[in-house]
Amino acid sequence: MKKIFSGIQPSGTPTIGNYIGAMKQFISIQENNQCYFCIVDEHAITVQQEPNKLRQQTKSLAALYVAIGLDPKKSVIFIQSEVSAHAEAAWIVQCNTSIGELERMTQFKDKSSKYEKSGVPTGILTYPPLMVADIILYQADEVPVGEDQKQHIELTRDFVNRFNTRYGNGNILLTLPEVSIPKSGGRIMSLQDPMKKMSKSDSSPKGYVSMLDEPNVIRKKIKSAVTDSSGIIEYNTEKKPAISNLLTIFSAFTHISIENLENKYKDSNYATFKNDLAEAIIAVLEPIQQRHNELLDSGELDFILDEGAERAQKVANKTLKKMQRAVGLGRKR
Ligand code: AQP
Repeated sequence: MKKIFSGIQPSGTPTIGNYIGAMKQFISIQENNQCYFCIVDEHAITVQQEPNKLRQQTKSLAALYVAIGLDPKKSVIFIQSEVSAHAEAAWIVQCNTSIGELERMTQFKDKSSKYEKSGVPTGILTYPPLMVADIILYQADEVPVGEDQKQHIELTRDFVNRFNTRYGNGNILLTLPEVSIPKSGGRIMSLQDPMKKMSKSDSSPKGYVSMLDEPNVIRKKIKSAVTDSSGIIEYNTEKKPAISNLLTIFSAFTHISIENLENKYKDSNYATFKNDLAEAIIAVLEPIQQRHNELLDSGELDFILDEGAERAQKVANKTLKKMQRAVGLGRKR
C-alpha cells in the first residue's frame, strides 16, 4: 500500500481547476492506498486573509473533500494547523534549504512580483519548505497535484536526498516522493485568458468556475468564456488555446475523450458546445454542492476532522521526532 499526501489551500472556494487537477484524482487513489488529505490553512496565510472568512473557507473545503467522495474510513482528512508537527518540521526543512533554491520557484516569482521587493511577505518565500514538511511527515510515496506544483515536489525530492545524506549515516530517514499529475487537465486555464492558470484567488471571478457556483452562474461564466473567431471545435493548444481548454474541462467532467468530443461537435457552433459544457459541469457539481451544504449543517464534519487530526498527529509526530533526533535537537538521554 502506498502512502499518499495531498493538500489544497482554503484561500478561496476551489475552482474546477483544483477539482480536475487534484481533487478528482483523490477519489480513486483512496481505494488502494493509505491517504492523507489535508486542508492546508497555514499555506493560505502566506498572503493576507480575512480571519473569519478563512475559518469558514477551511470548513467548507473540508466539507467539499467529503462531498466529492473522500471516505474518512479510508482516508485521513484533517486541517494542517491542527497538527503542530507541520510548522515544527518546516523549520528543520528551512534550515536545510538555501534562499537561492526558494527564489528559483516559479510560484515565488509570480506571487512576489505583486509587491515592492522589501514588502514581499516572507511566507511566500518559505511556503515550499512548509509543503516539503507536509509531504515528508507522512513519508509519502506519491503526491497527486496539478502541474503548477511539480517544481515544489522536485524541491521536496532534493531536500529528502540532502537530508538522508547529511544525517542518515547510510540509512534512509525520509521517503523520496514521486509526483503524480493527471495525463489531461493538469493545468486548467482561466476562462478569460487561456494563457493564465485558472486560480481561486483570481481577482476576476469570470476567470474561473468555483465548485460552489450556482447553476446559473456556471451557465453565465461558460457562456462568457473567451473563444476565437474560427468557429471550429478542435483541440490545438497552440492555435486554439481557449477551445482546447474548454475541451479539456468537458472531457474531465464527462469522461468522454477529447477526440470523441471533437467528433460530436464538429458541425456545432460555440454556443451549443458551451451550453452542453455548462450542463455537464452542473450535473457533476450539483450533488456535490448539496452534500457539502448538508455536511456544513451537521456535526459530522467536526467529528471527521477531530478524528483526522488525531490520526495524522500520531504519524507526523513519529517522523518529526526522527528528524529532530537526526539533526541533534533536544537532550541526550
Ligand atoms: N488551474 C489548475 N489546473 C489544474 N490543477 C490546478 N491546481 C491549482 N490550480 C490548478 C492544483 O490544485 C491543487 C490545490 O492547489 P492549492 O490550493 O494548494 O494552490 P494553488 O496551486 O496555488 O491553487 P490556486 O487555485 O491557484 O490557489 P491560489 O489562487 O490561492 O494560489 C494543487 O495540486 C494544484 O496543483
